[in-house]
Amino acid sequence: MPRTASVRPLTLLLLAVVLFALVAVGPIGCGADEPVTPPPAPEPAPEPAPEPGGDAAEPMDDPDLVLVESKCSGCHALDRVWAKTQDRAGWEATVGRMEANGLQVTDAERARIIDYLATR
Ligand code: HEC
Repeated sequence: MPRTASVRPLTLLLLAVVLFALVAVGPIGCGADEPVTPPPAPEPAPEPAPEPGGDAAEPMDDPDLVLVESKCSGCHALDRVWAKTQDRAGWEATVGRMEANGLQVTDAERARIIDYLATR
């Protein structure tokens, strides 16, 4: 009699533990099935800002300067050009000598280059 009496509480205890486990785990299992709220839609990438339109105001975009830089930097550094200060006749002579060295310019380009260098 005392033997069975001592087993029953243990059995009840095990049953209680199993039931508790089922009750405790149940909601967690259900929770996994709950609809997951979708992550917020990614923000649309901001439009790249348009490049500032006007470039005529930039001194670096002076077309005559660009011409000098493109025509006179092929054989030597432009420093050589900027280091020289002389009048129009001097630049005509220099550019004429550069043509003898191999510089290729049209008459209009030569005039613009000499004009730019003589008045800078
Ligand atoms: C085809 C090659 C070539 C090109 C292009 C060229 N040069 Fe020269 N430049 C030379 C050579 C070679 C020398 C050194 C010999 C001499 O002075 O002629 C020189 C030297 C110079 C000098 C230093 C000599 C001096 O007279 O004070 C200046 C200034 C100069 N070049 C200006 C210019 C300018 C301005 C341009 C563009 C219009 C130009 N070069 C384009 C070849 C070139």
